[in-house]
Amino acid sequence: MSVLVTGGLGYIGSHTCVELMNAGAEVVVVDNLYNCKKSSYDRIKALVGRDFKFYECDIRDAEGLNKIFENEDIDSVIHFAGLKAVGESVQKPLEYFDNNVNGTLVLLDVMRKHGCKKIVFSSSATVYGMNNVSPLTEDMQVGGVTNPYGRTKYMIECILQDLCVSDKEWSVCLLRYFNPIGAHKSGTMGEDPNGIPNNLMPYITQVAIGKREKLTVYGDDYDTHDGTGVRDYIHVVDLALGHLKAVEKVRGENGLFIYNLGTGIGYSVLDVVKAFEKASGVEISYQIGPRRAGDIATCYSDPGKALNELGWKAERDIEEMCEDSWRWQSQNPTGYPD
Ligand code: NAD
Ligand code: UFG
Repeated sequence: MSVLVTGGLGYIGSHTCVELMNAGAEVVVVDNLYNCKKSSYDRIKALVGRDFKFYECDIRDAEGLNKIFENEDIDSVIHFAGLKAVGESVQKPLEYFDNNVNGTLVLLDVMRKHGCKKIVFSSSATVYGMNNVSPLTEDMQVGGVTNPYGRTKYMIECILQDLCVSDKEWSVCLLRYFNPIGAHKSGTMGEDPNGIPNNLMPYITQVAIGKREKLTVYGDDYDTHDGTGVRDYIHVVDLALGHLKAVEKVRGENGLFIYNLGTGIGYSVLDVVKAFEKASGVEISYQIGPRRAGDIATCYSDPGKALNELGWKAERDIEEMCEDSWRWQSQNPTGYPD
């Protein structure tokens, strides 16, 4: 029995593939290479020491997916494939709804045709919107999202919930990620954004390597301990390990399950800058800029439900997250090879 991993060559998918195979699982990856390099496949293989199936295919290609399900013995799916840049989604809403929502509909239809009804979905803390107060718990109201990207996550959550109501054979796990950072300990896999990074940690590592001049801190007048935005950063390997527990869950039980994957600890932008400087020994130049539209002051999880029901807890601290991000960036100044 194999797990189909959509978007499995991307940042979180690649780390999850390594942990799945290290735990003895069979993995089949589908990725259209839109936001990753093929060399990510070679890096995963090198780390696990064995080959695995990779199909270059778009999840919106029903025929292509059909063939994969015909060729492989797939019993469950981890669905990472999607576009994820908040700002870009405001400029290109149709592309985001097509890729993320339509792509998921095509995938679910093909899964159903093949009697595969177990899926773990990459959702986001963004579904909690602007108005809930941290620590965020899974029973809080969701949906007050402010951008097309966030709306695709919320819409897909709704689609999957409706599917579970319609057919009790489905088993769905919605994982709401907080802020994944860090990289594999080996320094051979990590986050490799295209162009100017939108997110904090890749921006910091690019300043550290000399690719960018200075970080702009988006606002220092929030109601937080130092005025800068507070987030729940989680090591990508801890996040990957959460998926192993989630796959076990959907393989063992039908129904709908929702979990936050975070540490439960909030760090400000300046806390992260300091932790990174300590871990890397490199000073990070920064300037204070205006707030970024759509940002909230504070966002962190209550990760208790995942601990109680999945037996999962994030183990890696902010220092390790920074050390591993830096090892990846310093060993691969230009990211994955072409
Ligand atoms: P990523 O861009 O590194 O990985 C996504 C992968 O999916 C890429 O390799 C891309 O080529 C592939 N892909 C995209 N559209 C596809 C399609 N139509 N068909 C086939 N493959 C396709 O992103 P990531 O950071 O690894 O995120 C994985 C998932 O987690 C995404 O759904 C993202 O929205 C979600 N998520 C990410 C974060 C984060 O901060 N990284 C936070 C919350 C949720
Ligand atoms: N920040 C800066 N400067 C930068 C980049 C970010 O000061 O150059 C600040 C932001 O204002 C925020 C914090 O650093 O306070 C973290 O910002 P990120 O962009 O790294 O992360 P976000 O919390 O804004 O968003 C991330 C993902 C979204 C996802 C959300 C919740 O990018 O896709 O987490 O899961 F929806």
